[in-house]
Amino acid sequence: MAYVRKEISTESIRAQERICAGINERLGEKPRLAMVDTYGCQQNEADSEKLRGYLAEMGYGFTSNEFEADVIVVNTCAVREHAEMRVLGNVGQLNHAKKEKPGQIIAVCGCMVQQEHMAEKLRKSYPIVDLVFGPHELWRFPELLESVLFAKKRRRVFETGPDDGSVAEGIPLRRDGSVKAWLSVMYGCNNFCTYCVVPYVRGRERSRRPEDIVREARELVAAGYKDITLLGQNVNSYGRDLGINVDFADLLRMINDIEGDFLIRFMTSHPKDATEKLFRTMAECEKCAHQLHLPVQSGNDRVLKAMNRHYDSEKYLRQAELARKYMPDLVITTDIIVGFPGETDEEFEDTVRLCERVRFDAMFTFIYSKRVGTPAAEMPDAATREQKQRRFDRLLDTANRISGEKHAEYEGRTLRVLIDGETGKPGYNLSSRTNGGRLVHLKGDTGLIGSFAEVRIVSSNTWALYGELV
Ligand code: 5AD
Ligand code: SF4
Repeated sequence: MAYVRKEISTESIRAQERICAGINERLGEKPRLAMVDTYGCQQNEADSEKLRGYLAEMGYGFTSNEFEADVIVVNTCAVREHAEMRVLGNVGQLNHAKKEKPGQIIAVCGCMVQQEHMAEKLRKSYPIVDLVFGPHELWRFPELLESVLFAKKRRRVFETGPDDGSVAEGIPLRRDGSVKAWLSVMYGCNNFCTYCVVPYVRGRERSRRPEDIVREARELVAAGYKDITLLGQNVNSYGRDLGINVDFADLLRMINDIEGDFLIRFMTSHPKDATEKLFRTMAECEKCAHQLHLPVQSGNDRVLKAMNRHYDSEKYLRQAELARKYMPDLVITTDIIVGFPGETDEEFEDTVRLCERVRFDAMFTFIYSKRVGTPAAEMPDAATREQKQRRFDRLLDTANRISGEKHAEYEGRTLRVLIDGETGKPGYNLSSRTNGGRLVHLKGDTGLIGSFAEVRIVSSNTWALYGELV
């Protein structure tokens, strides 16, 4: 079936907001609280800000205590089994709260429920769940919630049909912070890496229009945000579906042109699509952070091919080298999967070798998790859990050692950071980020949160840098 992009009209979103106002009116003065619990990636964090935006328009305040909440929304992840197990465990636990609070509404949304077998599981084994809806239905949340909230007798609603390619603009947002903001530039993924469930649950790639993105970025800057992270599963293919002559590098430049003192970050980049133009643009745009999250997944060419990644280790190394040529201070981070079906100990060693060559500033390492319906789930897998765990431990040791060494190189240097929050620790009460995104702990006045400052790095460890304001 040909894929059709479905733009949700502003009128449809206004209609959802009218439903929010209607709910607000019907519930009247009665104080009410909602809890939104988020699993998984930044895209999900961004989606939860939309759920909270709608809920705020319905008159809900927010809590993190399930026993206080009138509405609970669990926004789920499907990337690995571990996340799904945590979701199911925590949803199961909610029956205590629901017993004490009859009439409490429990909704489960996000990637996990978009898989048929998971929706079935919720239907059959989790009767406390009232509402289930997939990521592409999020824009209809008010209408869906209304249908369970005011049903004459208890009604369960499941909206988990196939992804319909929806792109919705203008959903009200309630952002989590006041310094850093997420900004989705595209949804879905077309890459079908053989291990990954994302293309099945988030549907095909679709880009937001550049004018909508730039408008939102402008609003963020005007509201005082200093650190904007552009989000997409593969930002390097931004714009391809729009039929206009704007690629991701062009988009970066448009946002860079917005007046103000702020930083632009983005994730995730696919190595097959990263271009010299992108690296040059990052180097030329003064607001673009010198940070690149470039998942390599494996350092072995046979495994990369079996993963359907469309690059080999040489191409990856060339990309990293080229990016560093344009930005010698570039921070490069990566994702790696250990124990992909059929990976041998020797093939795994190629991954360790690649990490030693690139010297990533940070690595996010995962043990392969079998996902229903993906091609890799059908591939023979001889390695034992113990073997995979040994590989994982070895990779983690390598990652930690390299991060520690890279961090030590910062000691004695003075650099500009963005102070973004409190740590709650007396010695180093503030947290901040370098231009490249490395964490720096500081001591200083909380009034500095949201401002840029010069710091001298005095010490470091594997996970963070420690600095003094200068
Ligand atoms: N098993 C383990 N890790 C996975 N990832 C994606 N799918 C799987 C899976 N089935 C990892 C990849 C990706 C990151 C977001 O999650 O490394 O880059
Ligand atoms: Fe999954 Fe690959 Fe798409 Fe990333 S690029 S979301 S790993 S299919």
